[in-house]
Amino acid sequence: MKDQLIIFDTTLRDGEQSPGASMTRDEKVRIARQLERMRVDVIEAGFAAASNGDFEAVRSVAEAIKESTVCSLARANEVDIRRSGEAIRPAARSRIHTFIATSPIHMEKKLRMSPEQVVEQAVKAVHWAREYTDDVEFSAEDAGRSELDFLCRIFEEVIKAGATTLNVPDTVGYNVPEQYAATLRQLIERVPNSDKVVWSVHCHNDLGLAVANSLAAVMSGARQVECTINGLGERAGNASLEEIVMAVHTRGDVFPVETRIDTTQIVPASKLVSQVTGYTVQPNKAIVGANAFAHESGIHQDGVLKHRETYEIMRAEDVGWGANKLVLGKHSGRNAFRARLQDLGIEIGSEEHLNVAFARFKELADKKHEIFDEDLNALMRDESVTPEAEHFRLVATRFHSETGETPQAEITLTIGGREESTCAEGSGPVDAAFKAIEAIVDSGSELLLFSVNAITTGTDAQGEVTVRLSRDGRVMDGQGADTDIIVASAKAYLNALNKLQSTATRLNPQV
Ligand code: KIV
Ligand code: ZN
Repeated sequence: MKDQLIIFDTTLRDGEQSPGASMTRDEKVRIARQLERMRVDVIEAGFAAASNGDFEAVRSVAEAIKESTVCSLARANEVDIRRSGEAIRPAARSRIHTFIATSPIHMEKKLRMSPEQVVEQAVKAVHWAREYTDDVEFSAEDAGRSELDFLCRIFEEVIKAGATTLNVPDTVGYNVPEQYAATLRQLIERVPNSDKVVWSVHCHNDLGLAVANSLAAVMSGARQVECTINGLGERAGNASLEEIVMAVHTRGDVFPVETRIDTTQIVPASKLVSQVTGYTVQPNKAIVGANAFAHESGIHQDGVLKHRETYEIMRAEDVGWGANKLVLGKHSGRNAFRARLQDLGIEIGSEEHLNVAFARFKELADKKHEIFDEDLNALMRDESVTPEAEHFRLVATRFHSETGETPQAEITLTIGGREESTCAEGSGPVDAAFKAIEAIVDSGSELLLFSVNAITTGTDAQGEVTVRLSRDGRVMDGQGADTDIIVASAKAYLNALNKLQSTATRLNPQV
């Protein structure tokens, strides 16, 4: 019998700390449902004390999820912990994850606390958390650069206080596999009662070692891995869930553990997260990249045709490739449309909402005859924008572009309900469209990123555009999809502006 490796997904918390990747409450619930379908053990739904919006998002995930444990992150202070405790109250299974930094540099320069004060605060935090749930995780932030003796001491004390999972984060992605594995091995050997808790790892990918470090720690006795879909996360990201799970699954001869994950749900989860966040997946990304199972060289193709295992160690269908099937078309009716949305975990509020969404679906089906799940996800993302959140709304576009001529765009939009339009020239039609928008709104924001991705295959595919804007130190991503990529670009630009427009302030847990 192998030990179970607990898969703790933090896409909705650490993943959301990727620049610009903030998610709405509904988007979080949809991703959480997909994670539950995939049989993730623990879903870290957010940092409830970050803002009222984050609190509501954690609470909604706690209400929606029945099988997985729902967790909220909290700094080691009473306000954060009580806020988390309230947010996770509706969950069938709940966890509070509290943390405090333990490295000399963080304690001295960031917290300005002595090691004694840090231990005392950690113990208090665990006691507060235990008032809400028996399932309490404690993280020693920046454990990867902390002193082993101090880690042993703080972990011993939080076990006594009632922590049930102990997490050893390599917060800045500084460790290498042998060193990290040795840290875990020594902690498990030296901390009294270490066999009464689950040891967990949380690795960042600054040196591209997050997955290697996590797996090395599993060989030393770690039994929970914290990871994210597509490796999303702060800076270079976290260990990627799909790589951890498939390594353990494929190399059962090496790893003494197994996971509960339904691997066929991996690619749908990857696509959903990519669509919601606008973070596209590089084609050569392991497991979920478009080329992960494509064989280019003649020798490889020949080998695979003769005997698949000559060049393939996993089967594409085992991770959910092939799920991109035709689902609906021009002649599909309302019931088929509603049923498919339900399968995708997309909530349709009222009949009226369904009617509006169905009309938009028909418009799209007229332009694009085959409608895939990815198209429905994009369509419903646009649909989910409420009028209050849509201060700027695209009304109409007109473009002129001809060889040898300067491209021009005419844009009409509403600002808080008032219609305005203008024309601008640019180095290309997208540039002209953005200049026209700026001529109207004069937002003062800076364009940090512009990327276009075809949602599905074929020349009639919708283009999905991500625009990242920054203003006054805030960074927001906007997305837009359309069969016309210039329209998609204008929608994405306005979506980012609408997010910047919202004044809600939000804390980052690690600041
Ligand atoms: O990277 C980190 O240290 C974290 C902790 C809050 C677990 O994300
Ligand atoms: Zn982290």
